[in-house]
Amino acid sequence: MSAKVFYITTPIYYPSDNLHIGHAYTTVAADCLARYKRMKGYDVFFLTGSDEHGQKIERKAREKGMEPQAYVDKIVAGFKHLWEKLHISYNDFIRTTEPRHQAAVQALFQKLYDQGDIYKSTYEGWYCTPCETFWLERQLVDGNCPDCGRPVELLKEESYFFRLSKYQDRLLQYIEEHPEFIQPVSRRNEMINFIKGGLEDLCVSRTTFKWGVPVPFDSGHVVYVWFDALINYISALGWHEGDPRFEHYWPHAHHLVGKDIVRFHTVIWPIILMAAGLPLPSQVFGHGWLLLEGGKMSKSFGNVVDPLVLIERYGVDAVRYYLLRELPYGGDGYYSEESLVERINNDLANDLGNLISRTFGMLEKYWGGVLPEPGVSEAVDSDLVNVVRETKKELERQLERFDFSGALAAIWRLVHRANRYVDETTPWNLVRDPAGKPRLATVLYNLSEVVRILTIWCTPFMPVFPGKVWEQLGIQDQQELHTWESTENWGQLPPGLRVKRGPGLFPRVQREKVLEVAGNQAAGTQAETPASSHLAPEKVPALKPQISIDDFAKIDLRVALVKKAEKVKGADRLLQLEVDLGGEERTVVAGIAQFYKPEEIIGKKVVLIANLSPAKIRGITSQGMILAAVGEGETGVLTVDKDLPAGTPVR
Ligand code: ME8
Ligand code: MG
Repeated sequence: MSAKVFYITTPIYYPSDNLHIGHAYTTVAADCLARYKRMKGYDVFFLTGSDEHGQKIERKAREKGMEPQAYVDKIVAGFKHLWEKLHISYNDFIRTTEPRHQAAVQALFQKLYDQGDIYKSTYEGWYCTPCETFWLERQLVDGNCPDCGRPVELLKEESYFFRLSKYQDRLLQYIEEHPEFIQPVSRRNEMINFIKGGLEDLCVSRTTFKWGVPVPFDSGHVVYVWFDALINYISALGWHEGDPRFEHYWPHAHHLVGKDIVRFHTVIWPIILMAAGLPLPSQVFGHGWLLLEGGKMSKSFGNVVDPLVLIERYGVDAVRYYLLRELPYGGDGYYSEESLVERINNDLANDLGNLISRTFGMLEKYWGGVLPEPGVSEAVDSDLVNVVRETKKELERQLERFDFSGALAAIWRLVHRANRYVDETTPWNLVRDPAGKPRLATVLYNLSEVVRILTIWCTPFMPVFPGKVWEQLGIQDQQELHTWESTENWGQLPPGLRVKRGPGLFPRVQREKVLEVAGNQAAGTQAETPASSHLAPEKVPALKPQISIDDFAKIDLRVALVKKAEKVKGADRLLQLEVDLGGEERTVVAGIAQFYKPEEIIGKKVVLIANLSPAKIRGITSQGMILAAVGEGETGVLTVDKDLPAGTPVR
């Protein structure tokens, strides 16, 4: 029996720049595993963080005229903001500039020095600063870094060296005896060949800059940034302080990394641990690369894709779904805005969204919104239930091997099966004949139960929409119906629930929007605000006379969902909107037609003055007014920063 403990890590990213969707991929994948394992009852520890030392960061900070610490503080705040927007459920965020980490690095460096595995000599060779990697002359490709192709620098400095070569055979033996240690198999084979090629001792200190952990016994040296960084995985558990969390979690460690840094994690890191007499992590998994059609994503090429822009535009669930679905197991995938929109429109809107909304819609229309007790069964029902059972097995098998795309493909086979079930059972025919009712009851029940099960299985991938399904099903407080375990046996939904269809969970995206976003991306919006983001002082209108809080309190502002929009005939500035105020629908005329196409405003949650006396505009009674920022050549309606239900008061 294996202990139900799971320790999952992401790389700690360099805060040299804001993160892009490549980094988001690894972190979302790790989050998916953490959530899945928690749902399976595991004791999970999920670690991410930032790798803040080294020459690259020091230079970058100086370029910006900042102290390295101030620079990384700012960028790391951006990391945390992004993880919040992506709903990353990490248990700890380790920064290598924290004392708890530096103490561990110094302790380990000292130990290896004391036992003779670290010795002093002189390094003479090449260095790639963007990769923070040492290279021998013969390893260079056309004189450049063999990994990233950028120019390298010649170094000659006194350094400490770590005896990698001494442990080469032990490492090889370990990898051969533990086939699960490096995954997928293709990476394992690459690493075996690399090690067989022979390991050189590794330079583990630098003297020509200061931004690092000082070597404890030689203050002119700072520890090499990779030696420093790798230790985060145990410093965060309090290894050097004898924290019991180390013993508890460490044997169950899984390092999820991109293929670019598998070598550091499967050669340097295990040898550091072996030398220190510590057990090796359970697994290093190297995933593939997210590519752009134009080549590699990189700030210096100006082609990074800012995940915040995508989340803002498409919602966090859609972005997570896309990332986890698009990268094939072990291989590379291409990112494009078009394929993202295609996934949203096909997989999320047409397949899953439609299944949920037609299920709840039919329940409302054909059965008064009350979940029926199943009646008459037919063979097609057991087929559906069998597919559910098979899907669970396949889904779990894929998730255990970190195949996110395969896991989602398995879920979607059930989504397709369930949509076909609707077509096969034709509820719209059953409802016409009283004799069809017992059969209709079964069909509606089965579809609702499939929706429940699918929603649970989607939760690790897309953590936001399930809450809305639970609400529509009226089981938001019945946690026992949201558990992974509850999908083991068919038929857990209690008949009699009051079901209420809500607004579509995954709205379709208009294709024209895509180009607009693509145009914005190169700008990178994560932390920088453009200098022209405020009005010239002479253009700011004078303020109106002061009012009291009581004056303001008379105005009833509400969140309103725009359900329909059309142009007002003969008035090129006006749109007629139908808005949902939570239980109440209103018609509102808004002067925004030059700034919004009807389809652009549909689905937005705007702010409405709900107690304004109605006014007749072009023969239409407008029951309220929506708020907008009105500029010289542009107008933008007010929306709400979080997804709050229509009808919510604004104050
Ligand atoms: O290497 N596709 O940090 P880093 C997929 N600080 N994944 C990508 C990606 C892409 N296009 N681009 C980046 C470092 N990644 C070190 C790690 S760990 C002890 C120290 C992801 O900021 C992928 O996980 O360069 C890759 O390994 C990592 O970001 C590199 O992040
Ligand atoms: Mg990198």
